[in-house]
Amino acid sequence: MSQISRDEAVPLLFSPITLRGVTARNRIVVSPMCQYVSVEGGPTDWHLVHLGKFAIGGAGIVFGEETAIEPRGRKTYDCAGMYDDRHIAQYGRINDFLKSMGSVPAIQLGHAGALGACHGAMQGWEPLTEKDAAQGLPPWECLSAGGGAGIKRAAVRLKMMDRDDIAAVMQAWKDATRRSLEAGFEILEIHGAHGYLIHEFLSPATNRRNDAYGGDLEGRMRFALEVVEAVRSVWPQDKPLFYRASVLDGKGGEWVLEDTIALAKALRERGVDVIDCSSGGITGDSRLLGIPRVPGYHVSHSTRIKQETGAPTMLVGLVTDAHQAEAILRNGQADLIGMARELMYESHWPVHAARELGVPNYLELFPEPYTFRLKIREEHKVQYPHGSEVLIPHSQDEVIRYRWEDAPGT
Ligand SMILES: Cc1cc2nc3c(=O)[nH]c(=O)nc-3n(C[C@H](O)[C@H](O)[C@H](O)COP(=O)(O)O)c2cc1C
Repeated sequence: MSQISRDEAVPLLFSPITLRGVTARNRIVVSPMCQYVSVEGGPTDWHLVHLGKFAIGGAGIVFGEETAIEPRGRKTYDCAGMYDDRHIAQYGRINDFLKSMGSVPAIQLGHAGALGACHGAMQGWEPLTEKDAAQGLPPWECLSAGGGAGIKRAAVRLKMMDRDDIAAVMQAWKDATRRSLEAGFEILEIHGAHGYLIHEFLSPATNRRNDAYGGDLEGRMRFALEVVEAVRSVWPQDKPLFYRASVLDGKGGEWVLEDTIALAKALRERGVDVIDCSSGGITGDSRLLGIPRVPGYHVSHSTRIKQETGAPTMLVGLVTDAHQAEAILRNGQADLIGMARELMYESHWPVHAARELGVPNYLELFPEPYTFRLKIREEHKVQYPHGSEVLIPHSQDEVIRYRWEDAPGT
């Protein structure tokens, strides 16, 4: 289903990639980044500017943040959602802009499960308590696969999901998928990582169920696979489906890479196109180490998943350098490069990377009004190379000689 096109003359990072019926101009993906500034689940001007700047900067695919399929699946009251038809037009406006800039708009749908009803990142995701209720932020009842075992900072009010809850959540996945389509998203990612609901079902550290959704690997994978089937039944065949996996639990956890490889095979059979490699979210007492945050810290996991399943992958984790990104692609270690913090630091990173990798006309990654002006600026540099001596007029009678290399700061 997935087809990777390639022009040998172009760095792989900047060669287009076609997944089903969707082509991205390059392989730089803005990885999902929660903002905690949504209003009743809907995006605001912040999202337009925040996501818009990545499109202006040349990213191929722009993911918004984790977007909850139902209100109780949010982490905070300020988290993004896709649970109301009003959201369709709100995201649609942003998607129109991203497309007009040449990027592919993508949504990450998720359900926080036992990690819902908390404060945001800057308050350490502390669970809401009755104290917060007094401030108008009562903790809501969160759904959980296993009652919160192995989940650090689980919500104070948890309900272990029964069959009816599972059926209701499956319907919410379908409804959110339908809204995502109507809002003009071109790629949909299921958030199956970071200790949230799907991951809670997968890991033996958290899933202590003794029904069909627990027990052995097949049982623990059942919920994830049913979500994929629900989403794929609504998400059109010509649109790619990504799945973000925690390739292994966090320190002391029990879900490991071999499990992800088995899951990835089952996901592929159900129409998932890209395995997005992340990790962590569930901890425990086993000997499993935490992954040190070195540049490219998911490269080896992504490589193994590609080799053993044949699935295209995306990886995230301190990819910050153009040559590093290009090498990952050339070595066959991933098909897409996900980036979050570096793009937050420099949203025009794709343009700089294109220049560094020798892409001719790298300025054309920008929208035309920028390209036009910046090309003129390049011409100035050709016209007056370093060390040129010029005459700078001050009036009709007064000119001064000027060598720009003598100027302070040059
Ligand atoms: C501000 C911020 C918000 C994030 N929110 C999400 C999210 O909503 N969903 C998700 O799967 N990962 C989220 N992440 C993780 C990133 O997508 C990414 O995987 C991680 O930051 C590692 O990539 P990096 O080293 O390029 O930043 C977030 C990261 C940051 C920095």
